[in-house]
Formats: sequence, structure tokens, C-alpha cells
Amino acid sequence: MLNPIKINKSLEPIISDEALKYHYNYYLNALNKLNQLIGSSSFKSADAIIANIATFNDNRDDILYYASSVKNHEMYFNNIGNLNKPSGKLLDKINSTYESYDNFKAEFKKTASKLVGSGYTYLVMDKNGLKIINTSNEDNPITYGFIPLFNIDLFEHAYFLDYHNNRNDYIDALFSIADFTNANEIYKQNQ
Ligand SMILES: [Fe+2]
Repeated sequence: MLNPIKINKSLEPIISDEALKYHYNYYLNALNKLNQLIGSSSFKSADAIIANIATFNDNRDDILYYASSVKNHEMYFNNIGNLNKPSGKLLDKINSTYESYDNFKAEFKKTASKLVGSGYTYLVMDKNGLKIINTSNEDNPITYGFIPLFNIDLFEHAYFLDYHNNRNDYIDALFSIADFTNANEIYKQNQ
């Protein structure tokens, strides 16, 4: 049984309370479905379920879908709040890979603009370094052998209430509250 993360902050005016509540309920729904599907399984995190999906026989596809949705949303909700730019070793790697944080942001937005349909844009790492990738629907980068560091949810439910069809405005606005605290830590632990 997995417990939900809490959101104890308002993200107004970047994300309205109404949109945030709707989005958080979407996450809770995925978590409830996942808990029903995994029953008394001893896995304690969505990450562990995704990484060990081969151990599930019944409802494998649904378990992978909902575990990935939970992981995607936990990362998203954890990396928005107060602006905290990358620092330490992650910043060094961003600077050596993309030349600067501003350039990284531009690359991230360029990749996001290429996403067809619903999904996420992710900063991920593997043994070769950093990459910016798009994932489709609720796919999570763990499935493809990457370690996820930071993401932006590009489903319409993430932005339509506040930004209508202006997805680029939503991405720009989100970078003003992008919190890389978790990403800094994950990078440090896995490099
Ligand atoms: Fe979402």
C-alpha cells in the first residue's frame, strides 16, 4: 500500500488552486487504482513497482500504467513550488552539457514543443550523462533505463484551465517556480 504525497502550498497565480485541486485528485485516483491492483504487495514506492514490473503477472499493464502515473505526478508536484535552480554537481553537469542553465531551459522547451499528444518532458540521467526526453502518455523514464530527475506534465489537464491552448506560456510560467532541490539530490546520489 502506497501513501499519497501531500501538497501544502498554493501555486497561485502560476497554477490556480482550482487546477491544482483537479490535478491532485487525478493523481489520487491513479494511486487508489494502483493500491487496489497491487493488493498486499510489499513494494513501498512507485519507482520500485516500475523497476520490478516483471514480477507481476496479473494486471501487469494496468499496474505499470498507474505506477508510472503516480511516479510522474509525485516528481511533478515535488519539483514545482519555490524557484530553486540547479546547484552543485547537477549545475556543473548542466553547464558542461548545455553551456548554461538558460540554454538548458531553451533546450527543454524545444523538446517539449515537439511532444505529440499527451505526455511529459523529462530531464533524465544515465551512465552517459544528462538527456532531455519526451515520454508518451503516462510512460516513465525508468521503463527505458533512465533515472528521472525533473519533469513537466504536458497533459491538457495540467494547463488547460489556466492557459487554454497556450502550452508554451504554461512551460515558461512553470520555470518561474521550478524547484530542482530533489533533482540536485537524485543526481548527486546516482552519478
Ligand atoms: Fe497530470
